[in-house]
Amino acid sequence: MELHGSVALVTGGAKGIGKASGASMLRKGASVVFFDTDREALEKTAAELKSISEKLGYYAGDICRPDDGRAAVKMAVDQFGGLDILVNCAGIQTWGDVLTTSEEVWDRTMNINLKGHWLMSKSAVPEMLKRGKGSIVNISSAQGLASQTNVMAYVTSKHAMIGLTRSMAVDLASRGVRVNCVCPGTVDTPMIRHTISLDPDPPKLEDILNKMHPLGRIGKPEEIGEVVAFLASDGASFMTGSIVTVDGGLLVPIAGSPKQD
Ligand SMILES: NC(=O)c1ccc[n+]([C@@H]2O[C@H](COP(=O)([O-])OP(=O)(O)OC[C@H]3O[C@@H](n4cnc5c(N)ncnc54)[C@H](O)[C@@H]3O)[C@@H](O)[C@H]2O)c1
Repeated sequence: MELHGSVALVTGGAKGIGKASGASMLRKGASVVFFDTDREALEKTAAELKSISEKLGYYAGDICRPDDGRAAVKMAVDQFGGLDILVNCAGIQTWGDVLTTSEEVWDRTMNINLKGHWLMSKSAVPEMLKRGKGSIVNISSAQGLASQTNVMAYVTSKHAMIGLTRSMAVDLASRGVRVNCVCPGTVDTPMIRHTISLDPDPPKLEDILNKMHPLGRIGKPEEIGEVVAFLASDGASFMTGSIVTVDGGLLVPIAGSPKQD
């Protein structure tokens, strides 16, 4: 599905899933503003993706700062004439259980993985309403639907992202703005490479992660980006409030069922 004439803003756009989502939308003809705290990575990403299309910009900012969100939206409007698509992808992985999670980690996780997406949506939606049309794609996680051990704040934030998706979808449907959510399984990004590097036996963890997914491997960022671009497009015109797993089958098997080779 094509995105010619559409303008998109992607948070967490400098790396991983955000970068791949922006690249996919650029390939389909959209203009894309990449938004991230990491200016250096943004500059690299912009230089690399210009080979796909020149219709891109970037803004170094924090999704938790409303002024940054408003400035990035203004940039999209000034540079490309409006805003049709917001991909809420920025996020952090944190660890801890009910006893070991500090208030600082809880607050940081909720601020970035949840509140920041509401604030960015609050900045972006008025521009979509001006056009009478828009699409928001929220990136949750398989951990928005199920839990592992020792990731309490992360899992809570990702479950809440589904609530944020559904409530915004219901509120905005009659005004032409669709809101959907993608729940990826494990995807090979800098976030996951960092997680793997922290393990005492990184190759063993990588093997476990690959085998956890019925398709026998973790995902590529591009495999998430394609689904994001589809949800952003008119091809998904009858989808809103949908929670789409893109997880290589991770959440499908009945726990404890024998593995087929
Ligand atoms: N990689 C996975 O296996 C996986 C699986 C499920 C869900 N996710 C989710 O997908 C999203 C992207 O993950 P990724 O693996 O590409 O991560 P990543 O760390 O590779 O990229 C995330 C980007 O977000 C940016 N960022 C962090 N905090 C920010 C803030 N406050 N404001 C603006 N930008 C900020 C980072 O600088 C980074 O460039 C996250 O929400 C993550 O929770 C990832």
